[in-house]
Amino acid sequence: MEYLTFTPDGEAARLIASAYPQGAKAYMRSFGCQQNVNDGERIKGVLASMGYMICDSEEEADLIVFNTCAVREHAEQRVLGNIGALKPLKERKRGLMIAICGCMVQQEAVVEKLRKSYPYVDIVFGPNAIDTLPGLIARRLREKKRVLLPPSQRTDIVEALPARRESAFKAFIPIMYGCDNFCSYCIVPYVRGRERSRRPADVLAEFRSLVEQGYRDITLLGQNVNSYGKGLEQPVDFGDLLTMLDAVPGDYRLRFMTSHPKDATPKMIDIIAGSRHISHHLHLPVQSGSDRILREMNRKYTRADYLKLIAYAKEKMPDVSFTSDILVGFPGETEEDFEDTLSLVTEVGYMQLFTFIYSKRSGTRAASLPDPVSYREKTQRIARLKERQEACVKTLLQGLTGTVQRVLVEEKSRFKGRLCGRMDNNCMVEFLPGPNMKNAVGEYQNVRITGFRNSVLLGAAEDLPTK
Ligand code: SAH
Ligand code: SF4
Ligand code: F3S
Repeated sequence: MEYLTFTPDGEAARLIASAYPQGAKAYMRSFGCQQNVNDGERIKGVLASMGYMICDSEEEADLIVFNTCAVREHAEQRVLGNIGALKPLKERKRGLMIAICGCMVQQEAVVEKLRKSYPYVDIVFGPNAIDTLPGLIARRLREKKRVLLPPSQRTDIVEALPARRESAFKAFIPIMYGCDNFCSYCIVPYVRGRERSRRPADVLAEFRSLVEQGYRDITLLGQNVNSYGKGLEQPVDFGDLLTMLDAVPGDYRLRFMTSHPKDATPKMIDIIAGSRHISHHLHLPVQSGSDRILREMNRKYTRADYLKLIAYAKEKMPDVSFTSDILVGFPGETEEDFEDTLSLVTEVGYMQLFTFIYSKRSGTRAASLPDPVSYREKTQRIARLKERQEACVKTLLQGLTGTVQRVLVEEKSRFKGRLCGRMDNNCMVEFLPGPNMKNAVGEYQNVRITGFRNSVLLGAAEDLPTK
C-alpha cells in the first residue's frame, strides 16, 4: 500500500488568479452517503487551497462541482437532472466550469454519456482523484479542452487533504476507503475500489487535532469500518483503533459507520460498553431477515448470528440504540422472506430504519437474477415495513419518557423556539430550551424527556447546562 501526502499546487493557484482577476468562486454539492459528504468537504478544502472562495449558490459560481452517488438508479437520475438544469447557466456565464465527480463517474457508460450528451461538462474525476483536482482545473484552463478522466482503480491513500468542514462541532474522519464485500446487489465495490485502511497514526493525529479544536461529535467513516486494518503493516483491528482513540482526553463523543454485521464482534461491543466516549449506538445494516435472501445477497451472516449480536449488545449496554438499513424487494424475495424481515424488525427494536426498494445496478451479480415481483408489490411491502417500524419505535420512545438525558445540541428545530439535540446513544430529541440558552448549539445540555410526536422524542431543558 502506498501513502502519499497532498501538497498545494502553486501553479494552478496562479492560473486561477489570472483567469479570474475579480476572484474565483466555487460551489460544491454532494449527493449520497457520508463518505461523499466527507469527500465534498475535502474537495472544498482543495479548492480553497487554490484560491477559490466557496459560495452557496450555483448562480454566483465560476466553478460548479457535483459529487455524485451511484447506489440506486433514482440517485443517478437525480444527478443527471441537476446537471441538465445547469445548461442555461453555462450558456449565460462566460468562464463557468462544471465538474462532475464521485461514484457515478467511476462507470464507463456514465463518462461516455457525459461526453456525448452533456457537452457543457468540463471536468470529470473519480472519488480517488480529489488530490489531482488542481492539476485538472489548470489543464482545462490551459488547453481549452474538456478533461474527462476515465474510471480509475487507484489504490493508494492520499493524506493531508485539506478539509472545509461544514460544522464547527461535528466532524467526519475516514478511516478506510473502498469495499471488498461484494454484496450481490451493490455497486459500491465497483465504484470505490478495493478496501484500504489509513495508518492508525494518521487517524490518531487527525482525531487529536479535531478534539483540540473543540469538535464534540466525531464520526469514523468507512463502508465497513469494523474490517479496518486489513493490509496494514501494524497488526491493528477496529477494536484496537477504537481503544486508541477513546484514550484521547476531551469532552467529545465518538461514533462510527457503517459496521457490517459479519465483522461486528463481542470484542467490539465490550470495547464500546467499557469506553468513555463511544456512543452506545450501533448502525448495523441487516438488509433482510430471511436467511435465504441473506445468502443470495452474499451478506455472510444469518438471522440467528445477527440476533445473537443484538442480544449481546443489549446485555452489555442496556441503553444501547440500534439503527439499520433494509433492502426490500431483492430479486426473488417472497412474501414469506419479507415476513421474516418484519418479524426481525419487531424482535430487534430499531430507533430508526433506512429502507430502500431494490434497484438493479448493472455489473452486479444480482442484476442477472430473475425478479418476478412487481414494483407495485415492492412499494406495498416497504409501506408495511414502515408501518411496522412506527409501531415498534413507540415502545422504545415510551420507555425513555421521564428520563433525563445528556444531549449535544445540534440545531434549531423547525418548530419555533425549540432546539434539536442528540443523546449519548444517538437518539435525537426536540426540546424547549431554558431561559439562558441562546447560543446552545454545540453545547451539552441536560434534557428531561417528556413524550414524543410520531417518532421524535420531545423534552425540556433541565435548568443547568452540563459540564
Ligand atoms: N456499506 C454499508 C452500506 C452502503 S450503501 C453496508 O454494508 O451496510 C447504503 C445502503 O444502500 C445499503 O445498506 C443498502 O441498504 C442500500 N443499497 C445498496 N445497494 C442498493 C441497491 N442496488 N438498491 C437499493 N438499495 C441499495
Ligand atoms: Fe455495498 Fe455490501 Fe460493501 Fe456495504 S458492505 S458497501 S452493501 S458491498
Ligand atoms: Fe453513493 Fe458512493 Fe456512497 S455510490 S452511497 S456515494 S459510496
